Amino acid sequence: MTGSVLIFDSGVGGLSVAAALRRYYPRARLSYACDNAWLPYGLRPDALLTQRIVDVCRAAVAVCRPAALVVACNTASTLALEPLRRTLTIPVIGTVPAIKPAAALSHTRHLGLLATTATVGRPYTQRLIERFAADCRVTRIAADALVTEAEAWLGGATPSPARVNAALTPLWQAASADTPLDTVVLGCTHFPLLTPWLATLSPVPLAWVDSGDAIARRVGQLVAPLAGAGVNGQAFATAPQPALARALLSHGFQRPQHLSVAAC
Ligand code: DGL
Repeated sequence: MTGSVLIFDSGVGGLSVAAALRRYYPRARLSYACDNAWLPYGLRPDALLTQRIVDVCRAAVAVCRPAALVVACNTASTLALEPLRRTLTIPVIGTVPAIKPAAALSHTRHLGLLATTATVGRPYTQRLIERFAADCRVTRIAADALVTEAEAWLGGATPSPARVNAALTPLWQAASADTPLDTVVLGCTHFPLLTPWLATLSPVPLAWVDSGDAIARRVGQLVAPLAGAGVNGQAFATAPQPALARALLSHGFQRPQHLSVAAC
């Protein structure tokens, strides 16, 4: 049996990527690490965050010894993939906004990009748009409040329609513009966890596109064969949090162990 695939996020967002990996590879052994002590990443300054991501991933890889690391976080991937790849000796698969598949789907050539404040403003994101959606208008919406809603939802609370609507007012407006946006990139891994809510609250039908399938395919190219018993491995968190433990347990992971992070 090969080693596990370690999924990393700031919080529960990586569970949307775990679901995609599980769909593609029912027998894979998945492990999970999250930096909930620093959540939300999307509002942290870049320089501090880069070092923190490297430190946390290095600590998680040292205890978990996975075959590959999936950085299941757009905010981390658009910032720190290069330093991670320089530091770690295993394959590192990132998660970046699914601009290319969204552009291929859109009929109106108007896309929405829903992501954290950090991700919507990153040069990496700008390059993706220039490369894959040069003929599209892209309305960028920073929706950090949805990270909190997704954390609460997976921890057992009901998302607040009022708060979701408040965060998405610019999206609903762009969906009713003269040239309406018809396709939304879910550029934060927390957001696919809320898709049923988003779709219900949307005043018009929209296509919601995330990166889960693309990541799963990439993992399959780099880590072969993904064979195991279909049982998830360990989970790690940087802070004790009962709601997080509930979310991980209900998604088939073990109760998270404390991950201690030494700054290097
Ligand atoms: N899940 C992370 C992402 O994909 C971000 C959440 C956060 O702000 O911590 O960007």
